[in-house]
Amino acid sequence: MHDIDIETIKKNMNLADKIYIFDTTLRDGEQAPGVALTVDEKIQIAQKLDKLGVDKIEAGFPASSPGEIKACNEIKNSVDATTVGLARTVIKDINAVLDADLDYMHTFIGTSPLHRKYKLKMDKEKIIETAINAVEYGKDHGLTVEFSCEDATRTERDFLFETYRSVVDSGADFLNLPDTVGVLIPAITRPLIADLKSEFNTPISVHFHNDFGLATANTLTAIEEGANQAHVTINGIGERTGNSSLEELVVVLHAAYGIDLDIDSTQLYSISEFVGKMTGIKMPVNKPIVGDNAFAHESGIHVHGILNNALTYEPISPELVGHSRRIVIGKQTGAHALKSKLKQYHIDLNDEQFERVFKQIKELGDKGKTITDDDLRALAVTEVSSAKKTPIKLIDLELFSGSSSSPTAKVKLEIDGIEKEKSATGVGPVDAALNAIRYLIQNTTDIELEEYNLEAINGGTDALADVFVISSDSHGNKSKGIATNDDIVMASILAVIDSINKMLLIQRANK
Ligand code: KIV
Ligand code: ZN
Repeated sequence: MHDIDIETIKKNMNLADKIYIFDTTLRDGEQAPGVALTVDEKIQIAQKLDKLGVDKIEAGFPASSPGEIKACNEIKNSVDATTVGLARTVIKDINAVLDADLDYMHTFIGTSPLHRKYKLKMDKEKIIETAINAVEYGKDHGLTVEFSCEDATRTERDFLFETYRSVVDSGADFLNLPDTVGVLIPAITRPLIADLKSEFNTPISVHFHNDFGLATANTLTAIEEGANQAHVTINGIGERTGNSSLEELVVVLHAAYGIDLDIDSTQLYSISEFVGKMTGIKMPVNKPIVGDNAFAHESGIHVHGILNNALTYEPISPELVGHSRRIVIGKQTGAHALKSKLKQYHIDLNDEQFERVFKQIKELGDKGKTITDDDLRALAVTEVSSAKKTPIKLIDLELFSGSSSSPTAKVKLEIDGIEKEKSATGVGPVDAALNAIRYLIQNTTDIELEEYNLEAINGGTDALADVFVISSDSHGNKSKGIATNDDIVMASILAVIDSINKMLLIQRANK
């Protein structure tokens, strides 16, 4: 991946033999503003995390509600990963972890001057006494105990180490270092972790927030210095700007350091999507690894390179993380990209048709318009259809409506050269005509009307009707139909037939 021999560089790192992935999507992630997950949603996410291969799942904060105790308990019973419950250093919280029947507690107390003075109103001695009592209570009740000095990175160095020393002496199994407000920089992370590693034999864990956009960089630095465990979340969600992102950490360890954790990276994109849906926090398109643009290319130069060898403009393959490559059509598109897209849709254009489509794309781009794949297909298919004989033609339309009978339409179509006729009723004349058309084309194509828009082009009773429809088929193809007529029913029928013809061209080109 680099022209530098990472294996030589790794020899100067203090990498731990095993790096544990402690996922806190369901705890710190759920603390992200606006996120509230039901018990069932938490279980579904936990099962996906388990399949992904994380070592520990922080399932929640049991003391916060009976639902949270239930969720933590049900998660513990449905995953192989170790299920962790969060607790303040208070007996009531630890009892809630025990009520959830968990074996592993993550307990914390604020240690920085700000937390001591403004939040806890405790002096240093009281903080240490409270921490010791909580760890001892947890150990006495058979729990594995991970201990955090909340706001550790703004705590006086001596007091931080003194607190950790006290809880180690009380039996703490993991020492976690939270950068609660994300103020760390790698230059400070490195000596801090090095000192913790040389001072304690207890495994060191890190929990870094992303306020300065450095959570993943700091986590990697900590790992280089021997941190044994990283707290991460899917999509990096968490308090404020979130936590270190699981997908970034796992992929960079694999791709840049040659370190493979027991994580199935091919599930990263789908779990990111799932968590995005469940939490309502959609990833920005430029989010590393899982964003919509992570493997999308538009500029002519890049697409040309990608089409020859994807590594020219991609650091890893999208398949590695279960994502997919996307060639985007727009103002920057070059001829290579457009040709490959048309090939993908099995649409053959001659040189003149190609030039016309290419020109239209540039013109639309210059007007600031984005061109979706559907737009491109519609443009190309329109080019093809204007040169080809359309498969379906309207021969005749007759409408009947009486005060006592439902509106009826008699429609005569020519379908692939054969005339067919059908009368049908409907709630109105347009509906009746569409029912007749649906019947007539049923053996030719499956098509559903998705959108119908009617606009009067000018006012008055003689206004022209402009109808725009979108149809779709069971393969997800979409086609647009447009027609203008002084009769609303006729404009509607012609627009629908236009969209059916375009759909047939797409379907037949795909065969
Ligand atoms: O960021 C933080 O300090 C936390 C604690 C609960 C450990 O999430
Ligand atoms: Zn946190």
